[in-house]
Parts: sequence; structure tokens; C-alpha cells
Amino acid sequence: MFGGIQLGVLAACVVLFVPMVMAGWHLSRNKVLFFSGALFITLAIGVHVTPYFPSVSDFVTSVQSVVVFDNREDSCINLVNEVVWDVKPSHSRVRLNISNSNSNTESGSMSYDKIWDWSRTGKVKACEFQRLDRSDASDLLNGSWVVIAGDSQARLIVQSLLNLILDSRQMESIKGDLFKRHSDYEIVIEDIGMKLDFIWAPYVVNLTDLMMGFKQKRSYPDVLVMGAGLWHMLHITNASDYGVALQSLRSSVVSLLPFSPELGVDGPVTGAVSVRSPHLFWLGMPMLINGMLNTEEKREKMSDEMWHSYDRALRNSRLLRRYGGPLLLLDIQSMSWNCGPRCTADGMHYDGAVYEAAVHILLNALLIESHQKLGAT
Ligand SMILES: *[C@@H]1O[C@H](CO)[C@@H](O)[C@H](O)[C@H]1NC(C)=O
Ligand SMILES: *[C@@H]1O[C@H](CO)[C@@H](O)[C@H](O)[C@H]1NC(C)=O
Ligand SMILES: *[C@@H]1O[C@H](CO)[C@@H](O)[C@H](O)[C@H]1NC(C)=O
Ligand SMILES: *[C@@H]1O[C@H](CO)[C@@H](O)[C@H](O)[C@H]1NC(C)=O
Repeated sequence: MFGGIQLGVLAACVVLFVPMVMAGWHLSRNKVLFFSGALFITLAIGVHVTPYFPSVSDFVTSVQSVVVFDNREDSCINLVNEVVWDVKPSHSRVRLNISNSNSNTESGSMSYDKIWDWSRTGKVKACEFQRLDRSDASDLLNGSWVVIAGDSQARLIVQSLLNLILDSRQMESIKGDLFKRHSDYEIVIEDIGMKLDFIWAPYVVNLTDLMMGFKQKRSYPDVLVMGAGLWHMLHITNASDYGVALQSLRSSVVSLLPFSPELGVDGPVTGAVSVRSPHLFWLGMPMLINGMLNTEEKREKMSDEMWHSYDRALRNSRLLRRYGGPLLLLDIQSMSWNCGPRCTADGMHYDGAVYEAAVHILLNALLIESHQKLGAT
């Protein structure tokens, strides 16, 4: 903090030296005294008034310490999921008629616009989150290796990300391969030297195996997005078992990081800047709308209570950054909840808008994190 003592010393120096410099310009002694007095009064008022103007004292502290700047970036990372939804019937009847032919995600004959944006309230607004267009996204991901691993939710994220980067003709040509059931997918986008891998990993153990693979080969992606839970809920239906699996995933992720939250500053850090750490994300589970699930088995096993106990297991595993872990949450839960039943046909897989929002959240988080890196060098 900029303490009163430093301010006092500073003020004294100004009061003393500014008039002396002026005296060098052949001002009369009376004028020097006058300037001295005026300056003294201005500074005195300034010092006493400053605390009442938060923006002024913020400015003073941010000039003073870089740590404050970092905290501010952190707080934007924590707000990056603050998206609001506006889902309303399409007002254009003509468009409804046209869109009906190629869009079957609508329930009944009604069509809905699903509009999302970051909340415009004070703190979130100040973070200036924005949708990236194709060229910004390409710049950001230029030369990077992105791995997205998990179940069908993860596959939908891959689709949304590619949708942003590729044009519709390229998109059409890859769809067949991308949606091959229960299989991996990989693509290299030559123009931007980006490699994207989708790894089919329906269970958390599969994700842990993936971590082991990275560790053995000593090669790590730049961006890693993971998420699994629904298969476990349906086929094993045991939240404490899920929690155990998440904890072992957490330890394997932590063990492959160059520095870990547990090690803190005492760990084997060989200069934080030179050690490149991957950007890690957890793809949250969507809300399940029980009555809309498409089999009796799902409706029975994937109950709301079960969903909540799986969610608790995730929190307790401390996998997420919010709970002291290494992964930043892409909050599919809140987005699917806020988009609501009109955004899903089977109560589990949501409309493209939800995954599109998640991709923009991911890209904004990457932007913040890469700014932080720049700031640190
Ligand atoms: C929708 O389009 C069909 C022809 O494709 C037309 O017969 C029908 O009247 C249209 N309905 C509305 C509500 O515009
Ligand atoms: C990607 O980065 C390389 C150099 O790092 C640059 O030459 C190239 O123009 C970039 N491509 C795009 C599409 O930004
Ligand atoms: C995922 O793990 C399960 C349980 O260990 C295993 O049976 C399955 O083959 C694995 N799937 C993949 C794609 O690795
Ligand atoms: C649930 O999983 C835990 C941990 O793996 C295990 O100890 C427990 O027996 C399982 N419960 C049931 C009902 O299978």
C-alpha cells in the first residue's frame, strides 16, 4: 500500500523542489512563496480526499503493485462463466418455416431463438469478455495442440470449436468422421498449424489413463479440456465410486504439472516463465431433465438426487480450481439450466448454442491466461 508516510515525503519534496526549480526561472521570492503555499494546500487536500475516491486509490495501488493487477485478472477468470440467456419464440414466421426443414432440435412446431451473452452487471462488464471471430480464434490457437477428451458432451464442444474455425464447406466434409460413435477423432488445420484431438473417454478412469499416456511420452497439449460423468451415472450409479475416480484423476493431473497448487512456491519451480504449463479445463455435466430422458433405465438411474450426489463428488474431489484444484470449470450445468428445456430434445444433449457459449468461455479464459503470461515476462 501507498502509506501516509511515503505520501508525506513525496508532498514535502514537491513543495520544496518545485518552487526551487521555479526560482531558477527568475521568479520573485513572493511568487515562489505563493506557489509553495498553493502547492502545499493542494497536496494536503489531495491526500485527505484520495481515500474517498475508490478509482483514485485503485489507480494508486495498481501503479504501486503488480500483484493487484494479477488479482484482478484472477477475478475475471472467476467470472468468465457468467452468461445470461434469452430464449424466446422466433418472431419471424417466415424464418420459422424455412428453418423447420433443416433444424429438428425444436420441440413441436415452435422455433426458439437462443441468445446468450455475458452478464452486463458491473464486475462482469469490466472484464470485457467478448465472442471471438474466426480470425481472432485462429490467432489465439495458432500453432497449438488442443486435446478434448470425454463423452458426447466433449464431442459437441469439438464440433462447436471447429464450427468457429472452419468454414461451412470444410465443416460439412468432416462431420461424418467426427460423429462416428465411440471413436477418437483428429484433425490438423494446416493454415494455423493447429492440431486438435478428440479422445473418446466416457469414464474418468479413461481420462486418468490419458494423463498417464502424456506423462510417459513426455508430451503435453497446450490446451486440455476433459469431462466425464454421465456414463458412470448410468452404468455404475455410485457417486462415491465416481468421487474416488475423480481424486485419482486429480493426483495424476497434479503430478504432470510443472508446478502444482499443493507444492506452492516451495516446489521444484525452475523459473515460472520458462516452464510451460498446459491450460486445463473441466467440462461440467449438463443438467438432466428427467422427464425428457429417452429410456426408462436413464429416467430411473439418472435421477435428480443422483445428479446432485455426482455434483457433490466433483466438488469434494478438489479437481476444480474453485475448490483448490488444477482445472477451470466450463460451467455447462449453469448454461444448460439457464437455456432450459427448450434447448434440449433428450434432456441431456443440448442445443448448439450451449456448447458455442462454452467454447467462447474457453477462449476468453485462454485470453486472460495468456495476458497473464505476457504480464509476467
Ligand atoms: C410453410 O411453407 C410451406 C411450403 O413449403 C407453405 O405451404 C406454408 O404455407 C408455409 N407456412 C407458413 C406458416 O408460412
Ligand atoms: C501463425 O503463426 C505463424 C508464426 O508463428 C505466422 O507466420 C502465421 O502467419 C500465423 N498464421 C495465422 C493464420 O495467424
Ligand atoms: C474406459 O475405461 C473402461 C473401464 O476401465 C474400459 O472398459 C474401456 O475400455 C475404456 N475405454 C476407452 C475408450 O479407453
Ligand atoms: C460404491 O463405491 C464405493 C467405492 O468404490 C464402494 O466401496 C461401495 O461398495 C460401492 N457401493 C455400492 C452399492 O456398490
